[in-house]
Amino acid sequence: MPLVKVSLGTRSYNIKIGGSLLPGLGADCAALKLGQKCAVITDTNVAARYAKPALASLNRAGFEPLLITVPAGETAKRLKQVEACYNQLAANRMERKSFIVALGGGVVGDLAGFVAASYLRGIPFVQVPTTLLAQVDSSVGGKTGVNLAAGKNLVGAFYQPRLVLCDLNALRTLPEREFRAGLAEVIKYGIIYDADLFVRLERDMPKILRRDAASLAHIVARSCEIKADVVSQDETESGLRAILNFGHTIGHAIEAITAYGRYLHGEAISIGQVAAAHLSAERLGLSTDEVERIRALFVTAGLPVELKLSASQRGGLLAAMTLDKKVSAGEIKFVLAERLGKVTWGQKVPSASVQRALDLVQFKPDRRKR
Ligand SMILES: NC(=O)c1ccc[n+]([C@@H]2O[C@H](COP(=O)([O-])OP(=O)(O)OC[C@H]3O[C@@H](n4cnc5c(N)ncnc54)[C@H](O)[C@@H]3O)[C@@H](O)[C@H]2O)c1
Ligand SMILES: [Zn+2]
Repeated sequence: MPLVKVSLGTRSYNIKIGGSLLPGLGADCAALKLGQKCAVITDTNVAARYAKPALASLNRAGFEPLLITVPAGETAKRLKQVEACYNQLAANRMERKSFIVALGGGVVGDLAGFVAASYLRGIPFVQVPTTLLAQVDSSVGGKTGVNLAAGKNLVGAFYQPRLVLCDLNALRTLPEREFRAGLAEVIKYGIIYDADLFVRLERDMPKILRRDAASLAHIVARSCEIKADVVSQDETESGLRAILNFGHTIGHAIEAITAYGRYLHGEAISIGQVAAAHLSAERLGLSTDEVERIRALFVTAGLPVELKLSASQRGGLLAAMTLDKKVSAGEIKFVLAERLGKVTWGQKVPSASVQRALDLVQFKPDRRKR
């Protein structure tokens, strides 16, 4: 079974990847020598499918688990929900050694992680990610947090889990659209870090889309390895970690301008990465062949590569980019690719270049006729 280590000194932890890991949750937690009491935080969709086996496994290992269920969807990532979780933890007398299990997608992971980071100034937590996006991205690296009305992820903490269990069987029940959205992050790892992974994705995409077990094990493990490698070198994003934002400056702006309603995150960054590839061609000489391979792979994965925005929405995109919290001193900096597998960060780009890249991904109805 693949095991990936995230090396962060005394805060190091393992990511286990395999089929059917949920029944072993209790035994894995026992090995961490945590307190007897714990809370499983999950959402309504995930609870219906996976709360029972999770609680049963914890019970078998001698723990006393409390189930906390939050509504499914991004709206659960708010301070009101954090407080509701604190109150349930306190009412059940959770102590410093008690721990939290985040069972669900990125929403549950970010929320439960932030609750764990702050309740009693921090109690241990274990991630059991159940979406592809959470398995390859959000459960690894220690970013936790919630949204404010003013924007996404504006309140949070860097707080590392004690263990991550990626149960590949959980992906079987994931809706198709969510699964494809997770693939956008996997493709990103190929572009930013590993040209061999990119080639493998080009070759294996049909098998991956069928959720072939061996293919999934490989891509989840390799994605976790890459994220672990990057995070181990730069835990709090003072440098290298920025490369994980390839396609995200534009992607986040697309999400914001469409009020987080039209595109899933993975879909927005799919378009964002194709635009970033065009920008890379103009600024760093990424070859047109590679730009086309990047576009084609997102298409094969069933992800959008064209921006369908009205003229007024388009006008607001650049302004939305300058509001991104990664912008410092009003300057937009991009992660750009020199070639597949090699990117550089902190690239200042004139707004005219950004506009040209956006033009190249703008949906044009007549293009269809060719
Ligand atoms: N912390 C980080 O580093 C980081 C990185 C990327 C994204 N994020 C955050 O992650 C969140 C998005 O995560 P997500 O895409 O996993 O969304 P999500 O948690 O909302 O899950 C998507 C949907 O799938 C359902 N679901 C989850 N697992 C399922 C399963 N196995 N079977 C059936 N349905 C299932 C959920 O109930 C939900 O309806 C965003 O809030 C984003 O900000 C955080
Ligand atoms: Zn992302």
